[in-house]
Order: sequence, then C-alpha cells, then structure tokens
Amino acid sequence: MDGRPVDPESAWSGYAGATRADPSPGAVKRPRSVVVRVIYNRRLRELRRDVMSAKPISLTRFLIQEQHAGHINADLRLLIEVVARACKTISTAVGKGALGGVLGDAGTGNVQGEAQKKLDVLSNEILLEANEWGGHLAGLASEEMEHAHPIPNAYPKGNYLLLFDPLDGSSNIDVNVAVGTIFSVLQCPDGVIEPTDEHFLQPGVAQVCAGYTIYGPSTLLVLTIGRGTHGFTLDREQGSFMLTRRDIRIPADTQEFAINMSNQRHWHAPMQRYVSDLLEGKQGVRGKDFNMRWVASMVADVHRILTRGGIFIYPADRKDLSKPGRLRLMYEANPMAFIVEQAGGAATTGRSRLMDVVPTGLHQRVPVFLGSRHEVETATRYHLEHDSLPA
Ligand code: AHG
Ligand code: MN
Ligand code: MN
Repeated sequence: MDGRPVDPESAWSGYAGATRADPSPGAVKRPRSVVVRVIYNRRLRELRRDVMSAKPISLTRFLIQEQHAGHINADLRLLIEVVARACKTISTAVGKGALGGVLGDAGTGNVQGEAQKKLDVLSNEILLEANEWGGHLAGLASEEMEHAHPIPNAYPKGNYLLLFDPLDGSSNIDVNVAVGTIFSVLQCPDGVIEPTDEHFLQPGVAQVCAGYTIYGPSTLLVLTIGRGTHGFTLDREQGSFMLTRRDIRIPADTQEFAINMSNQRHWHAPMQRYVSDLLEGKQGVRGKDFNMRWVASMVADVHRILTRGGIFIYPADRKDLSKPGRLRLMYEANPMAFIVEQAGGAATTGRSRLMDVVPTGLHQRVPVFLGSRHEVETATRYHLEHDSLPA
C-alpha cells in the first residue's frame, strides 16, 4: 500500500478488501499480488464491457449484422456503403461553404427548367463517380440528369438501380440552412443489361432501400431496408456513420404542420378547408391549436417529423396546372414515403397511398402528404370527402 486512504466505495475497493478480508476456513491463501492482479483484470474487463455497450455501432457493423441476419445481401450492403461514402464527401463540400468556393449558381439549368447551384452539380458528380465503378449497379438516375445513366461497359455491373436527389433544398445552400441528399434503390428487372428510363419506372412499394442524409449542425444518415427506419450520426473525427437512433417511431398524432403557406391562393378546395380548420385551432372543429414550420428543405422538414411528429404537405395546386405538385415521385416522394412508413407514419397523395402510384416518367411530380399517421389520414379524408360531393 502507498499510504493513501482507500475509498471503500471506489471501483478499486476490491484492492483494499483483498488485504482485509477474513479468509473462510480451509480457503487457500493466495499471495496478495495475485489477488490484486485477478481483481484488477476482472475490473478491467467490466470497464471494457461498459465502454463497448455504451458506444454506438458503426453503419458498417449495422449492415454486416443485417447481412448475417439474412435481411440484405452483400451487394446491397456494399452499395449502401458507397452511397454513404459519397455523402460524406458531399458533407465535407457543404461544410466548407464559401471557403470551398461551392456557393452560388452554376449558371446552368436542369431538365426541369430549374437553375442549378454549384453544389447541385458537384453533388451529382460525386454520387455518379462514386457509384459508377462499384459493381453493384446496373444504372443510375438523378434529378440533375434528363435520362437514366447506364453503367459504362468498362465497369462491372450489378443488379440494382439507384435514384437520387443529389442536393435537396438547394434554395438554402447560400443561406447556410440544412440541405441533404435523398436516394432510393430498386432492383433492375431480370434480363436487363442496359437499363433505360422505363426500367426505373417502378412503384415505391418495389424499393429495397431508401435513405437521406442531412447536412446540418451534424451530418445524419437515415436509412431503411424495409425493416424499420434507423438514424446514424457522422462522427467527423472517425469518418464513420454511427447508429444513434435505432427503430425511429413517428408519433401518430401531432399539432404541427409544414406547408408553404405562400401558395394558399392557388390551392384546391379540400386543401383550403383542411388548412383553414388547422388555423382555427382550439376554437374550430379540430379542437386543438396547431404550430407551423417550413424549412423549405424536404430533408430537414421530414427529419423534424421523424424526431417529434408532424405533417408535411406539398399539394397539387392551380399555379401551374401542367405540374401536379412540386416534388418528384421517384427520388423525393417515394424514398421519403418508404422511410416514413417504416417509422410507423403514413404517406399519401392526398387521396391514395403514395408508394402505390405507378410512375409514368422519371421526373414526374406528385402531391405529397406525409408524417404522423392520424393527421395524414385526416388530411386525406378531407380530399376524399370533397371528391364524393355531387359536382
Ligand atoms: P430541390 O432543391 O431538390 O429542387 O428540392 C426542393 C424542394 C424540397 O426540398 C422543398 O420541400 C421544396 O422544394 C421547397 O419548396 P418551396 O420553394 O416552394 O418552399
Ligand atoms: Mn429536392
Ligand atoms: Mn435537388
């Protein structure tokens, strides 16, 4: 002993006890140094176990466990890893901001007539480059490319199709508000070697995986492979996504809605009635007050709903009758619907289940109602009741 007082409650109290214990009759008396070492090693094992059980597991380990459990195959696991790696690169570019020279307009437009930001173009390039040569894909499609992109013959090909919105919420890039990436994975139809647009036109229920990353105060990846929705936080020092929210659940009821209210005058009748009832709060038919939030980055608005509930709506309106809604079915609405349903929420077009919509175009738009199940059902009911009224 070194003369220091021994704290009997301390983690190391066994050290002191070892010298004071009254040995039971017949017990073999071991030398003090051996007893100390045995107690020390045991305590070390306990500490290591405590540390390991408190530490979240990495995305890699999570995916390997899912593969061992027979929930995904090695190709899908590696594909998700490649997408996650590309998103880390985008996260770094977003984080550099003005210092990386990535802010502002690219001076180009995409096929949908929208002005592209530098980060839209850069993120698209990063995802394309990372996924082209991996060997897990037959083709890719993106918001920023008019047509599907088959994997070049120089690279090995796989059986999956990847769709993505490389940078969601582009209007927020220059104002330092959260943006993200949304992706969806489909199976390439049997026998198709060079997929074209038509091979991507599968309903949302056919998705085998969907996810989004959000580049905010922290970078998060939210993922589903059809067995719940799980959240991972990027450990920037380690460079790994770590599982920080297993099996996310969206509360069925809510008092929060997300919508761009500036479009109100363009809305159709059932939307007018639904939102006006929300705004009447306690005094109206809903009997409770509602709060409103609108980030204008779908990833951020959906992420809030996955965290504390809510309903997100981008309805069809009369502003431009050639566009049935603002959001794109294949790489915005469908993946978010899959993620939300797997978290116990609901997603509709205002009239029917979103993931049942049979797509007709790679960039087709769709009305979106998603989030807390009971509230989505209520908003949908307003539309169906309106439809059943005599003309
Ligand atoms: P993107 O930046 O990929 O074009 O998507 C923007 C989308 C979505 O993220 C958001 O919910 C919505 O557009 C915002 O629309 P408003 O500009 O009407 O608010
Ligand atoms: Mn988007
Ligand atoms: Mn985008």
